[in-house]
Amino acid sequence: MEQNEKINPPKHFSERAAIKSMQDFEALYEAAAYDPDKFWAEQAGAIHWFAKWNKVCDWSNPPFAKWFVGAKTNVAYNCLDRHLTTWRKNKAAIIWEGENFEQRILTYQELHRKVCKFANALKQLGLKSGDRSIIYMPMTPEAAIAMLACARLGIIHSVVFGGFSAEALKTRINDLEAAAVITADAGLRRGKEVLLKQNVDDALANNECPSVKNVIVHKRIGSLTKMQSGRDHWWDDLTTGISEVCPAEELDSEHPLYVLYTSGTTGKPKGVVHSTGGYLTQVVATMKWVFDLKDEDIYWCTADIGWVTGHSYVVYGPLAAGATTLLYEGAPDWPKPDRFWRIIEKYRVNIFYTSPTAIRSFIRQGDDWPNNRDLSSLRLLGSVGEPINPTAWHWYNRVIGKERCPIVDTWWQTETGSIMISPVPGATPAKPGSATRPLPGVMAEVVDDKGEPVKVGKGFLVLSKPWPSMLRTIYNNPERFKSGYWSRYPGKYFTGDAATIDEDGYIWCLGRVDDVLNVAGHRLSTMEVESSLVRHKTVAEAAVVGAPHELKGEAIHCFVTLKQEFHGSDALTEELRQWVATEIGALAKPERIYYVAALPKTRSGKIMRRLLREIVTTKSVSGDTSTLEDYSVILKLSQQGKEEEEILGEKK
Ligand code: PRX
Repeated sequence: MEQNEKINPPKHFSERAAIKSMQDFEALYEAAAYDPDKFWAEQAGAIHWFAKWNKVCDWSNPPFAKWFVGAKTNVAYNCLDRHLTTWRKNKAAIIWEGENFEQRILTYQELHRKVCKFANALKQLGLKSGDRSIIYMPMTPEAAIAMLACARLGIIHSVVFGGFSAEALKTRINDLEAAAVITADAGLRRGKEVLLKQNVDDALANNECPSVKNVIVHKRIGSLTKMQSGRDHWWDDLTTGISEVCPAEELDSEHPLYVLYTSGTTGKPKGVVHSTGGYLTQVVATMKWVFDLKDEDIYWCTADIGWVTGHSYVVYGPLAAGATTLLYEGAPDWPKPDRFWRIIEKYRVNIFYTSPTAIRSFIRQGDDWPNNRDLSSLRLLGSVGEPINPTAWHWYNRVIGKERCPIVDTWWQTETGSIMISPVPGATPAKPGSATRPLPGVMAEVVDDKGEPVKVGKGFLVLSKPWPSMLRTIYNNPERFKSGYWSRYPGKYFTGDAATIDEDGYIWCLGRVDDVLNVAGHRLSTMEVESSLVRHKTVAEAAVVGAPHELKGEAIHCFVTLKQEFHGSDALTEELRQWVATEIGALAKPERIYYVAALPKTRSGKIMRRLLREIVTTKSVSGDTSTLEDYSVILKLSQQGKEEEEILGEKK
């Protein structure tokens, strides 16, 4: 890694930027560090409040923070109503392109009307502030409308990614005791229908989700759909003829806006709870600092609304900032590998925000695809979700940005709610592969095992002060919130990431140090995949590790022992891979399955994943068969591990 390479922001960009120089940036950073309450109160001034706070941050009961105590606001009001009294009322709020090239453009006024109507429909079904609803939808304007309608009424939504299985959906519905599920008949992915309503039916079958009283179905495709009378309603039926007037609830700043499930170190995904006022304040501030948004920009973040990026930087951030946000329904390479570049050309996209996995797959498809499209409208590029390797960074800069566009490599997490570490595009010199420096108001540190800050070198990434968009708790599990994030370094939030800090104070995120995998930018726990495998009738034990993957960053490798009567085969490998994909979702499909006679374990019975990771990363295991060819390798390494353990003492 060439850590000394520094690339200054293009001059023409800095001249027009809101933050034009490192001097401006340092001044902002210093002001935030000197008096965080004053600083965040100023930032909060960018959004609308029905009633002001009496305290900016209440940190009297850590780690349970309260921001803008006593204040009242509404996220949907900020995303919609606020713009209607300005010229923006006729500005495009959402530009949508379906995978099948359908197109819709909704102005702020139209979006407001649709949100109000849908909110009235939810009210009519008896839903009210504090209730929970699941949104399980394809990337359509209706997905954003559903989120905003819930936000308008104070209904806490939980978006479940459309690629997740019925089983994953069921777990989330039941953890939340959701009263309603909002879905679509189907979505489109690479020309095929993804049968969302069918998955909802499977999840609700046999009364396994007793809390769900209503299912609302948007007709996206017109796919054959069974409707259960009394429970299921067509979106269009509910909203036809309904009032367009629906006042936004004046909600407490701390009212939960949404719960988003993400993988932790155990098999059970955790429900990350985000708030209203603090969340929106920081999301709007980062829209301004990181994307340097201008009113005339067409802004496109390619994330699905099933992930936090889709919440903060497809829906809530851009709309609250009055931007035009582009939503695309389908796959990046459908029908041809230039689909993204066609969209940029067609809508004259100015800001483009995507993932390193997507960039790496574009590199593989060759430069002709982007080169044959007009990308001259682009002025800023972003990256999120995984470390971006310098090769991918340079390609992105050269082939997509034509060396004219700054790149913002943004580090953050589901839990942080908004971007924490990132270049400020008109100011920060980039170093390819580094997310650079913490944003104003963010106290990020790299610390050693004991929690002592590392000045230059490697350690663990922590956040040492509360921030407005931080998660408030884990739904139904405050203990897990405390122990999972705040116990390793008391008083500090542990991110789960390893990082290096260099002599310029630049942070280089190295990836997770816990049992969380990052596969193509998607978070998964090794335990989740293991629990799924052992539910299969043939599997006795399973151990899952991540191994570096050229395209996806990390790939899932599984070691399994079979029950006595079963034997490994190519057919079983395929069956197990499919099994995990069906149980969790296609994103969890294992890359490789190795059949072993036993798993290497510590004396206390813990699987030695470190050893297995070593085997798959050092390729001590044959690369092209699905059975472990030389079992002695594992035995040998396991022996080594045991000796090591005897010398070092057992790891806790
Ligand atoms: O390991 C870090 C990695 O993604 C994790 C968070 O994943 P998730 O909650 O799914 O949120 C992803 C989208 C915000 C982090 O703990 N990560 C995220 N962004 C970066 C990153 N690693 C390196 N560089 C980044 N820019």
